[in-house]
Amino acid sequence: MFVYPYWLFFYPVYLLYYHSEHDLDLDHETILQEVIDSRKKPQPSKHNSRPHQHEVPDEHHTFYEDTNLYDKTYDTVSKAVSNVIDGIFGKEMMYADEIWGHIIPPGEQTMVHNHGDIFNVEIGLSWVYYPHAVEKAGDLCFVSNINGKEYFYKTTHTKAKLFMFSNYIYHFTPRNASKIDRVSISGNHFAENKLRNILADDVRCENPYWKYSGRM
Ligand SMILES: [Fe+2]
Repeated sequence: MFVYPYWLFFYPVYLLYYHSEHDLDLDHETILQEVIDSRKKPQPSKHNSRPHQHEVPDEHHTFYEDTNLYDKTYDTVSKAVSNVIDGIFGKEMMYADEIWGHIIPPGEQTMVHNHGDIFNVEIGLSWVYYPHAVEKAGDLCFVSNINGKEYFYKTTHTKAKLFMFSNYIYHFTPRNASKIDRVSISGNHFAENKLRNILADDVRCENPYWKYSGRM
């Protein structure tokens, strides 16, 4: 069982801002269409990362913007993102927990949120991948509060780009001012016990996790 090391309560006092960008070599047009189809023609799936839209009764609920991916889309994107993560942390250090489609129609936006679990300290990273890029559709923005000062950073969303960041950093996208839906795929990767044990003993913070999670 992973025991959160006592020194972590003192060392990473603040969650600093950090994100990394990577290019995914995928058939982006096919993935884009599959995400759109998964909302209009949902199918049963093995993973069920999100409820289907007709299962979310309140359109004000944030899950209303999300769509449960087809298994083939989930597997393709999971493999591509896991390859990037394996290249940074080593094989079998993290696993894909949830992956879902996110569709924002014109005039709408994604509210400020993070992917952390307030009831559980999760060691992991969150990410978003863009199978297309639409001008004025809303770029991913991060906000962080360090010692009472707020920091804000706006990215430029780009086709094929994967943005990876702490699962605890707050982020949002402004209003979609284009005329078409903005489509992205998001997910969370969590640490395997092997990585958790490495981090528990990593008193010099040498593992890349600290940098990628914005904790150093
Ligand atoms: Fe998010």
